[in-house]
Formats: sequence, C-alpha cells, structure tokens
Amino acid sequence: MSARLEKLASEALGELSGASSIDAVLQLKTRYLGRKGEVTALLKELGSLSPEERKKAGEAINTVKASLEEAFDEKAAALEAGGRAARLQKERIDITLPGRSVRPGRMHPVTQVMEEIEEIFSGLGFDVAEGPEVELDYYNFEALNLPKDHPARDMQDTFYVSDEVLLRTHTSPVQIRVMEKERPPLRVIAPGTVYRRDSDITHTPMFHQVEGFMVDKGVTFSNLKGVLTHFLHSLFGDKTDIRFRTSFFPFTEPSAEVDIRCVICGGSGCRVCKGSGWIEILGAGMIRPEVFKFVKYDPEEFTGFAFGIGIERIAMLKYGMDDIRMLFENDLRFLRQF
Ligand code: PHE
Repeated sequence: MSARLEKLASEALGELSGASSIDAVLQLKTRYLGRKGEVTALLKELGSLSPEERKKAGEAINTVKASLEEAFDEKAAALEAGGRAARLQKERIDITLPGRSVRPGRMHPVTQVMEEIEEIFSGLGFDVAEGPEVELDYYNFEALNLPKDHPARDMQDTFYVSDEVLLRTHTSPVQIRVMEKERPPLRVIAPGTVYRRDSDITHTPMFHQVEGFMVDKGVTFSNLKGVLTHFLHSLFGDKTDIRFRTSFFPFTEPSAEVDIRCVICGGSGCRVCKGSGWIEILGAGMIRPEVFKFVKYDPEEFTGFAFGIGIERIAMLKYGMDDIRMLFENDLRFLRQF
C-alpha cells in the first residue's frame, strides 16, 4: 500500500509540473483527488485491511492527499498570476505617446454676431421671431406698402420663384407676420437669411439681417434713437460716434439710415468707409399707418418703430475683413481665426 501511494504521489507531482494551464491542473486534480480519483480509490480499499494497518494506511493516504491538494492549488494560483501578468504586459498603454488632438468646431462669425445682437435686444425685453425664407410677394412687398407697380421694388433685385412667391429680400416681412397674429405691446427682433441678386466685394446673393420693431401706445422716434444708440454702443463700445441720416423706405416715415464713425480709420477716411469717415450700419424709421392698416392696427391708437441691421457688414467691421465673400468661401483656415 505505501509503495503504491508513493508511486501515485510522485506520478501526480510529475504530471503537475508539466501542466501549463489552469484547465490542465484542474483535470489532474479531478483525476487524482476527485470522487472517482485514484487517491480516493486507495481510501476505498482501506476496508479490507486489519484495524491497525487501516489506521496507519489511512493517515498516510490523507497526508499525501493534503499535500497533493496544496500542490495543485499552488500551481493553479501561480498559473493564474502568470496569466494576469502577461495580460497586463500585453495591454500596457504607452502614456508617453502624444494624444490625438480633437479640433473643436467653432461658430461662424456671422452666427457669433447674430447671437451677440440677440443678447443685447433680449436685455431690452425683445422677443425673437422667425419667418420663412421663401416668402409671398404679399409679405415681402405688398403689405409693406410696396404695391406691384411701386418704383422702390427696383431697389431690391429679387429672386422670384413664381409671380407671387419669392426669396425674401429683407427680414421686414416678419413684421407683418408677427403683427397679423399678435396685438401690441410688441417688442420683437427677427434674425434671418435674405436674398438679393447682387454680388461683389460688399455684396453676396445670400446674406443676413436682424429685423427689429416695437409697437405700443406712444412709441416715438426718440425711443428708436435711444434703443439704437444703446445697441450700437453695446456692440462697438460706448465711445462710438453715431449719426442718423434721413432716408427713405416705403414702410417707414420718417426714415433714417444710421452710420457709425469708421472703426477702421477712426474717421479720417479710408478704403472701407470710402473716404467719408462714416459707415452705414442699418435702416430704420417709424412704421407707416398704411402698414398698420394691413394688419388691422388703428394708427390713431398705436405707433411703432422698425429697423433692419445688416449682419455681414457688422461682422466685417468687428473682425476687420475687407471682402464679404470670404465669409462664405468656407476656408477653415480663415474661419478658425474668429
Ligand atoms: N428692410 C430694409 C432693408 O432691407 C431695412 C429696414 C427695416 C428699414 C426696417 C426700415 C425699417 O433695406
């Protein structure tokens, strides 16, 4: 019995030292120590021995069994640790490699200026409204006091879709759309894209405006001056000189164009201000009674002002660009500067 036990133990340990995976170790463990294992089989033979021999042999078998168990478990643990170390080594990250940089997108200068303008006017309690870019003749012209035969229609070279449908040439139709639906008091701005058949260094066929208007009892031209002065000082700085020049729009009377002192040359005259020292920024005026009649407001009860701001012009001045077309060439090297 003890010779067989010794042989079994040395066989088991020999096989164990050759095992190279945890699975192999577990298989060996079952083969020797499992319920149908070889060591277990020896234990079952104890019944046929005399009581004395049985005690001795039993102890010897259990000692071997315990030491084999320990050897199997140790080997399994060692294999597991080795596997983990190998995996860690393989999955090691080289933290000295430079990272791949992500280039964040940024807002187009036109969008930046629009948002800045919206912020200034919402600080004055203006709401934001929008209207369609494909617009009816009625809203773009007719209800703004520009009947079909009106000579002022030539001021704006229009893209027509059909006789009655066009690409809006300004954001002023939003005035009509809002007033049609709502009653005064109104303080609204309407930013958006507009289209005209025009293209050179200061014109693109697509550009942006922010319309603004206020209608209530007792709104006056001095309210208009106050709001626009506050707006231009917020945008270009408190010290910017502003001038109101008389002008004409069919939907306002009196009408004005508003200039700021040239921010490029400071007023001494340059290419951007064409030597005049002033740059035109927006058109404005008091909304005409004729327009109110289209939206069924009583001009005896309500008065209002309106203005339209050209966004590209402002973006160019703020960022010192001299060709409007650069804004829309989508050259990232150019756009990333802002
Ligand atoms: N819609 C005019 C334009 O595009 C600007 C304007 C708006 C003038 C509102 C007066 C009042 O030229």
